[in-house]
Formats: sequence, C-alpha cells, structure tokens
Amino acid sequence: MAALGSWALWSFCSRGWSRAVSGCRLPGLRSSSPRGPLGARLLSQEKQATETHFGFETVSEEEKGGKVYQVFESVAKKYDVMNDMMSLGIHRVWKDLLLWKMRPFPGTQLLDVAGGTGDIAFRFLNYVQAQHQRKQKKQLRAQQNLSWEEIARKYQNEEDSLGGSRVMVCDINKEMLKIGKQKAHAQGYKAGLAWILGDAEELPFDDDKFDVYTIAFGIRNVTHIDQALQEAHRVLKPGGRFLCLEFSQVNNPLVSRLYDVYSFQVIPVLGELIAGDWKSYQYLVESIRQFPSQEEFKEMIEDAGFQKVTYENLTSGIVAIHSGFKL
Ligand SMILES: C[S@@+](CC[C@H](N)C(=O)[O-])C[C@H]1O[C@@H](n2cnc3c(N)ncnc32)[C@H](O)[C@@H]1O
Repeated sequence: MAALGSWALWSFCSRGWSRAVSGCRLPGLRSSSPRGPLGARLLSQEKQATETHFGFETVSEEEKGGKVYQVFESVAKKYDVMNDMMSLGIHRVWKDLLLWKMRPFPGTQLLDVAGGTGDIAFRFLNYVQAQHQRKQKKQLRAQQNLSWEEIARKYQNEEDSLGGSRVMVCDINKEMLKIGKQKAHAQGYKAGLAWILGDAEELPFDDDKFDVYTIAFGIRNVTHIDQALQEAHRVLKPGGRFLCLEFSQVNNPLVSRLYDVYSFQVIPVLGELIAGDWKSYQYLVESIRQFPSQEEFKEMIEDAGFQKVTYENLTSGIVAIHSGFKL
C-alpha cells in the first residue's frame, strides 16, 4: 500500500516536473503563433483567446475564476496554519520585508488587494502605530507641562494612534475575509481597518484614491493580470506606489532542484495531512510555476503605466518584491 502511494506520488511529481519545464503560458496572455491552415489558425486563435490555465490544467477564462474561488474557500480555515507549515514560518519574514520596503508615512492610505486573512493589513497597522507612538513620545517630551491624565488620554485615543493611516483589505473570497475579520477581532484590531469584497480586475474604488497598493501572493491567481495591474494604476494617487510580493523563478540550479522536490512532493502531502485537501495545494504549487519570470512581470507592470519599476529577489529568488510608481 505504501509502495503504491509512493509510486502514485512519484508519477504525479514526474508529470509535474515535465509539465513545469515544457513551455508554460502566462496567465491572461495569449499565444500569437498558431500553426496550420488559415481556417484552423483563426479557430485556434479564437479558442486560445478564451483559454487560460488553472495550475497545469488548461481551462476557459470563465471557468478559472470559479475554480480559484473554490480553492480559497476550501483552504480558508487552514490557510494561516498551512502558510506557516509550508514556508517553515518564512512567509512572515517576506511580509515584514514588504512593510519595510513600503515604509508608510503618517496618514498613508493603503489598499491591500487579495488581502485574504489580513497578514499585510495587520503588519501595516502595527507599523504605523509604532511609528505614531514614537512621534507622540517625542512631542510629549517637548510639552513637559502636560498632566498624566492628558498624556493617558492621548495614548487611549485609538483613531489618533494611527496618525490618520488606514488600510482596506479587498478580496474576492468571502471565506478568506471572514477568517481575516475573526483574526482582527481576536487580536484587537479595530481602527483604521476595513474589509471589502471585490475583484482585483474590477476594483470597487474611485480613481486616485490610495497612496499604496499591495498584493501579496495574490496576483498569480487572477485571470487577467494585465487588467489587475491597470486597476492598481487607476486607484493609486499620482505619486502612489505599487508593491507586489510574489513567488518567482529560482535561478540557482541546486536551490531550484530542492525547491521542485519540496514543492511537488512535500506541499501537496502537507495539504492532505493538515487541511485534507491535496488538490488545492497541488494547484497552489502549479500556479507558482506558471507565473511569469521576474523580468516578464516587470514588463507587464511597466505596460500598465507604472514607472521606476524594480524587483528585489528574496531567499535565492524564491520570492520577489516588485515595486513601481504612478507618476
Ligand atoms: C495566497 S492568498 C494570499 C492572501 C494574503 N495576501 C497573504 O499573503 O496571506 C491569495 C488570495 O487572493 C484572493 N484572490 C484570488 N483572485 C482574486 C481576485 N480576482 N481579486 C481579489 N482577490 C483574489 C484569494 O481569494 C486569496 O485570498
């Protein structure tokens, strides 16, 4: 029985690898060089125009959104535990690094798209609160004639403790938002935080509204990445910043080999053992392999109108932080 299990696992992984290396298409992008006679070519172009991928599976664009929804609906309850297990806690460091890169200023209006269970939003609130408290302490030292009651009142005013900064978590999935709200309640986050149900491809916000737009491990799940990038550009104020944390391509051959083994052999097994859901975690690792390279994604960000676009590889290129400005 165990041998059968190992064989099934091995056969899946071999399949995974061979598909991973054989020409992946970019999500939301269409092939422009079909072969064959004109009729067949047109037909095939038309077909490809509505096809995309869901992990290594080819699906219609209409189907993809529903399938992605099911994945996150299914993993929502175990999402945070699984993140810690799969990344051995390293996802926390990647998210901290995103905040350090952002360096929000007092009053920053942040939109966190595909924000799921709120990890980026909570880090943002902690950051701006700590920053604001430092500033207040400095001011209080300068006004030494304030009474203890006045000092205590200043610290107790929750809204004031954020210096006017706010974060909106926007996600397409109700279950992920529900878990996020429960976490916020349990951890005492109230002020400066809102949860919005919405699609990255069609954001329910006016133009020029936010100082910073973040999307962490979310954009690879979106059917039309180009459309999501245009929306990011639209809702940012002039001078606003786009920041994306996403898995990327590993260039070191040894790290790449180990990473493949870990992704295809360990993660779906952990998914099955902890969340009882092999398939969703299989999709998650496959979707990572289908995501464009750092350079290709940089071009897509530039095509959406962002300027000064850069990326920074973290952990041997397993993950990258992409950044750009709306100028
Ligand atoms: C891997 S989770 C990332 C959650 C969170 N940002 C984090 O880093 O922990 C991906 C999230 O993207 C959301 N998502 C997928 N497609 C989306 C879309 N079109 N618009 C908004 N959110 C989407 C999913 O519902 C899910 O919550």
